[in-house]
Amino acid sequence: MRGIFLTVCGGVSLAVLAACAEVSMPDRTDGAAFFATNCASCHGANGQGNGKLATGLPVPPADLTRLTRDNGGTFPAARALSYIYGDPRNAHNVRVMPEFGGAMEEDLVPVEIDGIMTPTPRVLAGLLDYLKSIQVGS
Ligand code: HEC
Repeated sequence: MRGIFLTVCGGVSLAVLAACAEVSMPDRTDGAAFFATNCASCHGANGQGNGKLATGLPVPPADLTRLTRDNGGTFPAARALSYIYGDPRNAHNVRVMPEFGGAMEEDLVPVEIDGIMTPTPRVLAGLLDYLKSIQVGS
């Protein structure tokens, strides 16, 4: 199956790939479930930064409902994605939040990130949809 897929779609741009492959895209429901399991303990059930573990952390978890507002009205997809995944540029920093990239590399789907089609781990794609849906004041 994978071999056929590669023959048919290999070498074409991701935008076309999205159309020709039978990619089932994750949505905010998948993202919400992933968030509840992996993020809510720190960022809170609604993403506002008030999770159970929040008070014990040296750095307060970000209020994830304000990402758009704090970014001048545009959801900062690339920044959020690389932060969640684990941005190599941050490697030297002391970081409170775990990096989630390691567990996600296998299953990539094409997602438009700040205008560019980007192969994105499936769970992160759903997560981004969810995060976009909880933004306030935008
Ligand atoms: C152990 C607690 C913890 C967990 C679990 C956690 N975070 Fe965080 N998160 C933080 C903290 C603390 C920060 C503030 C920056 C820092 O020091 O890491 C942060 C920052 C962020 C930011 C950056 C916000 C900005 O201003 O750019 C995003 C996006 C984010 N978290 C999303 C998530 C998502 C999505 C998950 C689940 C996949 C998650 N976090 C899980 C603690 C956590």
